[in-house]
Amino acid sequence: MADYYVGLMSGTSMDALDAVLVDFATTPPTLVDGYHLELGSALRHEIMGLCAPGDNEIERLSTLDVQLGRLSAEAVRQLLAQNGVAAAAIKGIGSHGQTVRHSPASAIPYTLQIGDPNTIAQLSGIATVADFRRRDMAAGGQGAPLVPAFHQTQFHSPNKNRVILNIGGIANITILPAATSQPVSGFDTGPGNMLMDGWSQLHQNRPYDENGNWARSGKVVPELLNTLLADAYLSLPPPKSTGRERYNLPWLQTQLPGQLLPQDVQATLCEQTATTIASAILQYAPTTEEIYLCGGGACNGYLLERIAAHLGGRHLATTAELGVDPQWVEAMAFAWLARQTLRHLPGNLPAVTGAREAVILGGIYPATPR
Ligand SMILES: Nc1ncnc2c1ncn2[C@@H]1O[C@H](COP(=O)(O)OP(=O)(O)O)[C@@H](O)[C@H]1O
Ligand SMILES: [Mg+2]
Repeated sequence: MADYYVGLMSGTSMDALDAVLVDFATTPPTLVDGYHLELGSALRHEIMGLCAPGDNEIERLSTLDVQLGRLSAEAVRQLLAQNGVAAAAIKGIGSHGQTVRHSPASAIPYTLQIGDPNTIAQLSGIATVADFRRRDMAAGGQGAPLVPAFHQTQFHSPNKNRVILNIGGIANITILPAATSQPVSGFDTGPGNMLMDGWSQLHQNRPYDENGNWARSGKVVPELLNTLLADAYLSLPPPKSTGRERYNLPWLQTQLPGQLLPQDVQATLCEQTATTIASAILQYAPTTEEIYLCGGGACNGYLLERIAAHLGGRHLATTAELGVDPQWVEAMAFAWLARQTLRHLPGNLPAVTGAREAVILGGIYPATPR
């Protein structure tokens, strides 16, 4: 009998809401199908507007919260319809929500994801788990990354030291030593696609640089690269996590040494992402033998080439080689996290987030019995 859960993810790129149907009756769990609901530029603009202080935030936030809840329920509806699966067959939805603030290092740490889970549970008729990050933070953690525990269940190898590398707006790694006596670890390495996306939107009017072709056409500017690599976040020891508060276009403008060709800036941003990822792996997981990529950055051929160039001969492939389409891995993790919560099991790894203990994550919004 199937053990179905739905995972919903919308990351810092704000490109789309990803919805996946996962069957946990198999080992490892099976990704049945996925559905992409594009957010569109108007909605992305509104969300982006809430990521920095502005006017009338409470009303804008509250409205967007419900709108994103409705969109989430719609993504679930489409996903289930396209698979002929009834809502009653789903044990739970794990909804990450859309991060509008993530501030783990402030005096009073906080993080905020929106996409009203009341609305999701009500419209879908399925128990919904949401707000996963704040419980980890309440236990003294960064609230991020939360995907490593899932990466461990899905991708651990008893023979090879692996790293799972997720390149979304921000890039994060999960270090999976073959020996189970060694702890799983992981952290946000720094920017993934976020600055490249922003620069591409500004100069090419395209939300991202297809396959990294524009970056490939430019030349790395050493002075800019050195400035970007001197950024203080990069040398912080883990646990650590970051977001759009730190890496954004206004910040990038302050880093530019003067007038540069836009394609040269793009090439340098791509090199920044590749270098920071590779340095993190070489510093914290030097015995890594295999690196598996997921997230939208796995579609950026030029970025992959640059990462490979820094990682000297280690096996580098996408998670497709391990049987999971790279674009759905993060959403799948939230289906897994919801299942943990509904079974009263913890979802965070204290060694990763820095929390004092493993805790049951999120709030449960039950379905109404019909
Ligand atoms: N064909 C492609 N070429 C280059 N980059 C791509 C491509 N497809 C997706 N991406 C990148 O992946 C991003 C979306 O990745 P995703 O894993 O959804 O990130 P997030 O979790 O931050 O939403 C896009 O914003 C873009 O930067
Ligand atoms: Mg996305």
